[in-house]
Amino acid sequence: MENFVYEYPTKVCFGKGAAKAHLPGILSACGPNVLLAYGGGSIKKNGVYEELLEILKAAGKTVTEFAGIMSNPTWVKVQEGAQLARDCKADLVLAVGGGSVIDCCKIVCAQAVTDEELWDLEMVQHKAPSVPPIPLGAVVTASGTGAEMNGGAVITNEEAKIKGGMFAAAPRFAILDPEYTMRLPRMQVLSGAFDTLSHAMETYFGRSDRDNVSDEVALAVMHSTVVNMRTLLKDINDYTARSNLMWTSAMAENGILKVGRVTDFECHQIEHQLGAYTDCNHGQGLAVLHPAYYRHIVKDAPEKFTKLGKVVFDVDGSDGAVDALAAFIQECGLPTRLSQLRSKVEVTPELLRQVADSTNLLPNGPRQLTHDEVYEILKECL
Ligand code: NZQ
Ligand code: ZN
Repeated sequence: MENFVYEYPTKVCFGKGAAKAHLPGILSACGPNVLLAYGGGSIKKNGVYEELLEILKAAGKTVTEFAGIMSNPTWVKVQEGAQLARDCKADLVLAVGGGSVIDCCKIVCAQAVTDEELWDLEMVQHKAPSVPPIPLGAVVTASGTGAEMNGGAVITNEEAKIKGGMFAAAPRFAILDPEYTMRLPRMQVLSGAFDTLSHAMETYFGRSDRDNVSDEVALAVMHSTVVNMRTLLKDINDYTARSNLMWTSAMAENGILKVGRVTDFECHQIEHQLGAYTDCNHGQGLAVLHPAYYRHIVKDAPEKFTKLGKVVFDVDGSDGAVDALAAFIQECGLPTRLSQLRSKVEVTPELLRQVADSTNLLPNGPRQLTHDEVYEILKECL
């Protein structure tokens, strides 16, 4: 095992009725001003907004709203939220949504307390913010990213055409009520769950090949994710499967699987840049890219692929594992080609060249890719 220090700052309140049961107590320890942040309005249609507002009012909070956080949140939206947080002197930012709302708010909390531009500080100067952020709480309405239990945030700088990982405020608490996800569109449920599967696979395929308890836990998370996704294919409203997926989502990205090992995450790097250029859905982008990426690296980690194939899909051989993953993606009805993804621009070979050339090449996977190979992978997905 690699050396490690493990510490976690997020208190998790899980289950039906978690907000009513736990939020009042948590709020009693916070100051009076709350910035209530959400996305395009789903929380106003499914009752979550009313329920939370009632709890906030009963706790005597002054609520300012930060609405309209889009999927793949932009740097401009972060600045809007930071200004609102300053104006209302927020003591707490309550992020209600999926990964996009939570990520946006992580950086809002850090940006609101400094005049220094955090994009420049983190992405150009590679420094961490020095001022403690405004406390953040997350109420998850769409699971999959695991954003509720980590300090990473993925933000799109539209001007620079970079979708980059930033580090700021991990939520102090997270409310995980599977009921809150029940009105999520079917495709988003499955895309989010595939993102969880991807996180566990990307962690497992890190360069370190030594036997590691984290790998065994990762394989269990992958297996559980696949089993519960298959349950949802039969009944998308299965509450137990939704609950299990909500927790595997957090498990895959709360650091537990990364303990004592290095991680891969090259497929995420490619997908993030694809997102920067096209605004595609994150989980769906990963579904298209993963089989193609794995066909490129399967010969560099045959034993690990074979083990994954056996444990997760009950198939033999390293190529069998990649084939089983590709078949599972089809079984779920997730996209398998770039042309099936949402895109704000036409996806041409020229565009893919730009995506490839701007992709971060990480040294931690079974083999480090080149920009040309990333381009090949992308073209194979056309
Ligand atoms: O905006 P609203 O109206 O709320 O609609 C959202 C959005 O359209 C909808 N939705 C959410 N909860 C709902 C609901 N619709 C009905 N009922 C509900 N209960 O779902 C849509 C997608 O939401 P979004 O937050 O964009 O999806 P997701 O959770 O997949 O987050 C994706 C973002 O997270 C980043 C991705 O890159 C992407 O930007 N990631 C964050 C990570 C992290 N911080 O650890 C790791 C991931 O690898 C990922 O990169
Ligand atoms: Zn992801």
